[in-house]
Amino acid sequence: MSFVWATHQVPSTRWLKAEVSARAPHLKFAFARPGLTTWKVEGAAPTPATILPSSFARAFGLSLGRATEAAEVLTAIAAYRDRPLRLHVFERDIDVPVDEQDPTTRGTRATAVEAALRALDPAAFLPEVRAAIGDRVIDVVVPHGREPDEPWLVGVHDHDDHHGPWPGGVQHVPPPPEAPSRAWCKIEEALRWGDLAPAPGEIAVELGSSPGGASYAMLVRGLEVHGVDPGAMDPRVLGFRGPHGNRFVHHHLPAAEVPKSALPRQYQWLMNDINLAPMVALRYVERFVALAHGGLKGAVITLKLNDDGVFAALPRLVERIVKMGPRRVRVTQLPSHRSEVAAILTW
Ligand SMILES: C[S@@+](CC[C@H](N)C(=O)[O-])C[C@H]1O[C@@H](n2cnc3c(N)ncnc32)[C@H](O)[C@@H]1O
Repeated sequence: MSFVWATHQVPSTRWLKAEVSARAPHLKFAFARPGLTTWKVEGAAPTPATILPSSFARAFGLSLGRATEAAEVLTAIAAYRDRPLRLHVFERDIDVPVDEQDPTTRGTRATAVEAALRALDPAAFLPEVRAAIGDRVIDVVVPHGREPDEPWLVGVHDHDDHHGPWPGGVQHVPPPPEAPSRAWCKIEEALRWGDLAPAPGEIAVELGSSPGGASYAMLVRGLEVHGVDPGAMDPRVLGFRGPHGNRFVHHHLPAAEVPKSALPRQYQWLMNDINLAPMVALRYVERFVALAHGGLKGAVITLKLNDDGVFAALPRLVERIVKMGPRRVRVTQLPSHRSEVAAILTW
């Protein structure tokens, strides 16, 4: 009997299960803990490369069973030790937004379990945690640091770009004190999960940029940023002068009104965080994809999921995004998201 698992935000459990049962009827719901859902696989035994199709899964893989101590983890993975293994130990979510959690307890259990595993058999795992394409990853999902201990889930996946390269796909990235908004975390987590590396000297356009957390993140990464928003930008963004001479340009208008002559002829990165229904926001995204004249390398499109109606429309929204011509579209829900998911596009 085989099982697959996914880790995800607690409030999204219902949507995750609905999406999986629609897209993968051979998966039958098995058991769940907050932030962790498993399914029994009917039919052919899955491999670690099995794809779990959901926009709400931040990490997923094949289950190798449960363990209550490090030695049991090593027993569970014995059949997978024919090649070097990455180790991803991480905590499942709790039903408290990540930026309201106590940062001194979050992560403490994962750190302790990882240390115990590495101490028990120092040769079992590669020292670095970041996964590269093709790596085999052992996942150990443990309870949140503030919760009582309980059996851990031991899993395995083969890393490809359906997965984030970090434990749990990505962990919450806390904002620096000077970040103008929590959107800083959303863009940083999206870039990490998607393994994207905007480079100094490149140009980003952000739709819905006020007050400026995401734009600030891109400025610090050395990009020139064009922000489009009728709202005010934080003075730290407006006054930013980067070591690469990069700066922020504010298009103080709704996205539909920005003349194409005001934009650079090409830009490499597009972000959308407009707080409108995605059916409307995507019209602006489509326009700005066209205005990039084929120069885009990547885009991070926030899709606000305000109700079940938008959830039901998600497949059609993704079809529209696919038509924008990227090589790859991935959808996931990040630690900092609230009633939203990110579509991550790469060209
Ligand atoms: C969630 S906030 C953006 C946060 C921002 N990304 C940050 O990093 O701080 C959503 C923004 O969308 C903007 N917005 C709403 N409609 C818009 C439109 N038609 N064109 C451009 N911006 C719009 C709002 O003014 C608001 O500032």
